[in-house]
Amino acid sequence: MIILDTKTDYKNHIDLLKSKGEIISLVPTMGNLHNGHLSLIKIAKKNSSKVITTIFINPLQFAKDEDFNSYPRTINQDIDKLKKNNCDILFIPKNKNEVFDNVDNLDHLKAGPKGEILCGKIRPGHFDGVLKVVYMLFYLTKPDLSVFGLKDFQQLYLIKQMVKKYFPKLKIISAPTIRDKNGLAFSSRNSYLNHKSINIAPLFYKILLDGINNLKNSKNVEKTIKDITKTLEKNSFLVNYVSFLTTELENFKPNSFEKKVLLSSVKLGQTSLIDNIEFI
Ligand code: PAJ
Repeated sequence: MIILDTKTDYKNHIDLLKSKGEIISLVPTMGNLHNGHLSLIKIAKKNSSKVITTIFINPLQFAKDEDFNSYPRTINQDIDKLKKNNCDILFIPKNKNEVFDNVDNLDHLKAGPKGEILCGKIRPGHFDGVLKVVYMLFYLTKPDLSVFGLKDFQQLYLIKQMVKKYFPKLKIISAPTIRDKNGLAFSSRNSYLNHKSINIAPLFYKILLDGINNLKNSKNVEKTIKDITKTLEKNSFLVNYVSFLTTELENFKPNSFEKKVLLSSVKLGQTSLIDNIEFI
């Protein structure tokens, strides 16, 4: 695996791959790699001839009171995992300037109204920051395809919208959420969970699943949201939101045949967890 940490080296290497006609896939991450990330690399490998992974903790997507400084940094373990999973190139920018030439030039990248609901409501500006870094990574890499997890449903939706506008030839692959045996979705932030919370956290997914089953019987969206919220709170979760939407993040129509999604964000102690479940 080749490891590069400057934009110049990275661009030169990309040019070389392009001149050889390689099909390039990109898997952007913030590191502290787990099985969810590795599943994206496997999908990328199947669909391209060279897989590039990036590890960059993007300051633009963290608010001042968030966990930018304490975000888990485990670079040596990450490199081992990437090697074992046949990643070809790791781009790990040595500082912010190796990604952002001039952030002011990216002011046109706004997530818009659908970036201001759900997680965007509790993390103002978060998705603008995500779009800026993903745009720059696409701009530097010019990949043929890129893989993102459905676990971050709203992020994936907004990236797809941005790609339609600015990188119409780029294929975005949506990857299923990988979970621990107990149902808890893998997340880098799970490492913040203490001994007690680790046993409670898997209830999050179970309570959401029960909610969908109850909705299928009752057809009462408002009541189901209230019941899910109550059950989460009873189990020590602080609920940021529980929301039923269509997969276009539009208003939910209980009797329609559109694909739908239940999205939720909670806090367990100091740890933020998000999850979602698609259903028909
Ligand atoms: P990060 O949280 O490191 O996630 C990187 C990618 O892994 C995202 O596409 C995310 O949806 C996916 N992922 C995370 N947990 C997953 C799981 N349990 N199963 C499957 N895929 C999973 O998301 C980010 O980083 C950043 O916002 C980024 C896009 C890199 C921009 O900074």
